[in-house]
Amino acid sequence: MQVALDKRTWNWLDTFLFFMRTLWIYYNASWVIENMDDYQSKWLIFLWFMIIYLIPLLFYRPGYIKLVSFFIVEAVLTGSMFFYMMKQFQIIGAYDFLYLPLIMIAYVCQVRPYLWIGMVTSVFIFLTGTWLGNQFTENFLQIMINTSLFYMMGFCLGRVTVINNKNKELIESIQEKNKALEQYSKRIEELTIMEERNRVSQDLHDTVGHIFTSVITSLDALPFVMKVDQEEAENSIKEIVNLARNGLGDVRKTIHQISPSENRVPLSQSFYQVIGEFMKHTRINVDFEIEGTEREIGERIKFTFIRCLQEGLTNAINHGRATQILVTITFEEESLLLQIKDNGIGMDSLNLGFGLQGMKDRITALNGTVVIESERNKGTELRCSIPLAKEVVCND
Ligand SMILES: Nc1ncnc2c1ncn2[C@@H]1O[C@H](COP(=O)(O)OP(=O)(O)O)[C@@H](O)[C@H]1O
Ligand SMILES: [Mg+2]
Repeated sequence: MQVALDKRTWNWLDTFLFFMRTLWIYYNASWVIENMDDYQSKWLIFLWFMIIYLIPLLFYRPGYIKLVSFFIVEAVLTGSMFFYMMKQFQIIGAYDFLYLPLIMIAYVCQVRPYLWIGMVTSVFIFLTGTWLGNQFTENFLQIMINTSLFYMMGFCLGRVTVINNKNKELIESIQEKNKALEQYSKRIEELTIMEERNRVSQDLHDTVGHIFTSVITSLDALPFVMKVDQEEAENSIKEIVNLARNGLGDVRKTIHQISPSENRVPLSQSFYQVIGEFMKHTRINVDFEIEGTEREIGERIKFTFIRCLQEGLTNAINHGRATQILVTITFEEESLLLQIKDNGIGMDSLNLGFGLQGMKDRITALNGTVVIESERNKGTELRCSIPLAKEVVCND
């Protein structure tokens, strides 16, 4: 509780009360000294006033706040002085001395149980002083109201300080939260940039890998074709140039992050195009089947499937050394399925490389799944599935 009362910094109201208290001591000390006849008592009183002024400063002064201790010494010292004044002078004017201590007590006692302790102590001091000064007269009610008003004034000033303090704490906590949020959004930005970078590098890997595979395979075959048929070789060179040119376009599009199917061709048409080019340059037979009725799908799904197809075909020839590939797309009720099956050498265990990992990342980003089944010498089957409901959300 003590901590709750003291846990604040010095503010302008504390400064104001500090000056008021100094003035009050000066005013009351000079009044009492003026009204005393005995020289020795005068010095004693002066000393007492100094103590009343200085001791509480040990606990409550600019930059230092120990309000519970301040409250105790303030109540004891000023209370006893008030009793003395009431007993000594027996006049209403002695109440003036009490007003500032009451403001101070009410000002500092803002937290339970000091809220009540402060109030009870003040009532006790007031009533005892009144009794000692024989002031239970017809003016008593008036005096009581005046005194209460001062107490209430102190209490209101205390509330202002408490509320200001709470606001300050609130602002500090908001600032702290803002800082945390800022860091968080920075982190998200970093992650987004990283994700985007991964995506672009993935696209480059897929397109560049696919193009180079086709170009290299065609070039490999070129010397033999040249020997056999000059015209066919020329045609082949033209096709290779075209292939490289298209590939360059693809790479450019990826760099600019433009969807390859800007002109909104259906998925099957894009597939025919990719497969056709692949067959032409690798001379590997690819069967393509569409099951279900083709319907409009989102550009992002289309783009993802084209990349999967390119990666699947490239892997089948590069890793599987396949001679026959079957590609099937199935338009199911709620999802789209792509199967790429080859008759290559297959694999014993699956180690996801850059290509397959990227494929998996792209598909999972669309809530889809990738399944790879393969057995040594029995080929490999790749199945990618994407729920079509997601298309609405992810449609670019
Ligand atoms: N169709 C396939 N036939 C045989 N092995 C494959 C096939 N596809 C992938 N693999 C194996 O999986 C590994 C990872 O493939 P991938 O992730 O595409 O890597 P990369 O980026 O090197 O092509 C390959 O190194 C290969 O051993
Ligand atoms: Mg690959």
